[in-house]
Amino acid sequence: MPGLLKTAITSVGVSLPEKRLTNSDLEKMVETSDNWIVSRTGIRERRILGKERAASDLSVDAGMQALKGTALNAEEIDLIIVCTSTPDFPVPSTACVVQDAMGATRAAAFDLNAGCTGFVYGLAVGRQFVESGTCENVMVIGVDIISRIVDWEDRATCVLFGDGAGAAILQPTNAGRGFLATDLRSDGSGAEMLIVPAGGSRLPASETTVKGKEHFVRMNGNEIFKFAVRVIEDITVNLLKKADEEVESLDLLFLHQANSRIIEAARRRLGLPAEKVPINIDRYGNTSAASIPISLHESVEDGTLKKGDLVAMVAFGAGLTSGGVLLEW
Ligand code: UT7
Repeated sequence: MPGLLKTAITSVGVSLPEKRLTNSDLEKMVETSDNWIVSRTGIRERRILGKERAASDLSVDAGMQALKGTALNAEEIDLIIVCTSTPDFPVPSTACVVQDAMGATRAAAFDLNAGCTGFVYGLAVGRQFVESGTCENVMVIGVDIISRIVDWEDRATCVLFGDGAGAAILQPTNAGRGFLATDLRSDGSGAEMLIVPAGGSRLPASETTVKGKEHFVRMNGNEIFKFAVRVIEDITVNLLKKADEEVESLDLLFLHQANSRIIEAARRRLGLPAEKVPINIDRYGNTSAASIPISLHESVEDGTLKKGDLVAMVAFGAGLTSGGVLLEW
């Protein structure tokens, strides 16, 4: 009966470009320093995708890796959700490109744009399809190639981001508790705080928009910083309350990796020890919708994340969006 089904993440996968861009590389490109970047953001290097590849390519790699961890073939996937702000094309969706490349012949496919909160939104949406009995095997991919939409002459943004993809397979479970709570939020009054002004129906691409660099990311970093620390605490507390759990019971809190100072401030507010809040921003920068599945994959691989753990994932980003999920792994 719908409503009694539970959803579990049964496998995860990741794909990161090989090319590393270090802070000292950036020192040669814009007026910045390794010291500024490390002390203000925690970032030491990030991965940059080669020009011949795009979001769908990393998505396919991450998705196929996740699939290998299950007994499924691509033809058995019912739904593919690609969470991204940097699709291959404005039209069609990247999810359809991925569906075809994977041979996921029976899957429905769509993109979901919730900025850096995309993967968390995608998990919450995918869960609904499983728990309603509509789908059995859902693939959620978080991917962003932000290097394609940053102004490489703007030191305030170009040092922050990296490219990557992560994927998760969602399936019904009768063992364990699976997803316990979700909390998705939006506040469009903050839309201009993180925006690519041109290239959509508001301001179509033209010679003027290109000259004005309006196809690049513009961000009010300070305001987003404050917003982030506030919502991470609020959402985490709310998720735990919804599931009748305590902060102390949380085994791991996966946070969107935008800035190590945001992560540290939120962690201290919640009173959690450092080992419960993984940080990998030093190696990948802010990979937007990919940051949480990349962290998740690392923790599965190194054995930090164990069956039965109480796990929360909380993110924030363009929209403004924010959101979290709580589950028993
Ligand atoms: O994924 C979700 C979206 N994004 C975020 O979550 C980002 C959230 N915000 C942040 O992470 C931080 O606000 C930033 C890392 C973006 C900026 O750090 P900040 O401590 O808020 O610095 P600031 O913007 O207040 O800038 C301080 C100074 C400025 O110089 P003045 O005006 O004090 O002389 C900047 O011009 O640092 C300067 N600056 C830089 N200096 C060297 C800005 N970028 C750089 C740089 N290298 N790359």
